[in-house]
Amino acid sequence: MKVLSVVGTRPHFVKAAPVSRALDGACEHVLVHTGQHYDDALSERFFRELDIPRPDHDLRVGSADHGPQTAMMLSSLSAVLRAESPDVVLVYGDTNSTLAGALATAKLPPTLAHVEAGVRCFNRDIPEEVNRVLTDHASDLLFAPTETAVDNLAAEGVTAGVTNTGDVLYDALLWARDRLDAGVLDEFGVVPGEYVLSTVHRAHNTDDPERLGAILRAFGSLALPVVLPAHPRTREAVAAHGLDVPANVKLVEPVSYLDFLALLDGAARVATDSGGVRKEAFYLDTPCVTLREETVWPETVAAGWNELVGTDEGAIVRALTREWDLGEKPAPYGEGDAALAIREAILGVE
Ligand code: UD1
Ligand code: UDP
Repeated sequence: MKVLSVVGTRPHFVKAAPVSRALDGACEHVLVHTGQHYDDALSERFFRELDIPRPDHDLRVGSADHGPQTAMMLSSLSAVLRAESPDVVLVYGDTNSTLAGALATAKLPPTLAHVEAGVRCFNRDIPEEVNRVLTDHASDLLFAPTETAVDNLAAEGVTAGVTNTGDVLYDALLWARDRLDAGVLDEFGVVPGEYVLSTVHRAHNTDDPERLGAILRAFGSLALPVVLPAHPRTREAVAAHGLDVPANVKLVEPVSYLDFLALLDGAARVATDSGGVRKEAFYLDTPCVTLREETVWPETVAAGWNELVGTDEGAIVRALTREWDLGEKPAPYGEGDAALAIREAILGVE
């Protein structure tokens, strides 16, 4: 059995790590990196830190508008698929690399398997939503992280090949939890429970000066420091829009996965538009303020650990400064053995 994983962005590397460990020794696993993310801080560092094998193919596609970027990936991936002839192709999440992997595979013999299938925000203006829907409808095996995701697929008529595996990001976090070093807080001059952590990188927020400006102004009115490891897109947008970074906001380079989780674990609150960070906050018991109007992870909101505020300045400040009535946490994302469930399903492919 030969399995080929297509990865290309920071969240892919985190998600592929537990899957790669689970497949190790059970089958041949070929790793293809599209090159959508290429900065060391968004790519190479994750391979070193998470102990992921080096990619067997590095397509070096780089940044471009979605059309040419997806087209370049599709072209290179088609050649790799024909050369490797895998039995199963695994794609992860909802990025342009995910869609390219799905499109490249859909008309070829390999079984196409989607990790994080069925996740929906129900807003087709969001590029990732388009990537999710198209990838799911091209897939043969659909590894859903929650019952909600299974239901979303059923509502679109997709029931064959669907398994609720739980969330691979939870597997990744359980591996990382014993390896966290709270000493990283000193590097940023913050103490546990007395700072806010933030990430902002969605085009919807960074490309609009009003939205990004409102987020920064809200942070500036807080009494606590805000540590903001900025995606290059965000740093570029702050400069391009000519926005002021308030004195209490520490705009820093993206940090490593283990450092990020240590910062998240120690934070009083996190304010983010990241999909993955919202769930990691939930796993680490850090209340989360989501800088979006909709969420693909409604379970965290229903449980009272996540509030959707969008980018209204006052709403962000209120959510970050209010008392949170935090109750018992349910476990909608499985037991941290998603990668094993994925391995079992893959090994069952004829
Ligand atoms: C992509 C995904 C998003 C995911 C995010 C993870 C899509 C549509 N979006 O967004 O779903 O949450 O990755 O972080 O696939 N850049 C660099 N260095 C890099 C990579 C990018 O400087 O290594 C800059 C470039 O200016 C580039 C911009 O960031 O144009 C955006 O990169 P891109 O890969 O297009 O999208 P992300 O915002 O990273
Ligand atoms: N992350 C990281 N360093 C950072 C910010 C985030 O390692 O400076 C990790 C985070 O722990 C999570 C993943 O990157 O596992 C989320 O990626 P991102 O927010 O870029 O993408 P999304 O989840 O929104 O698709």
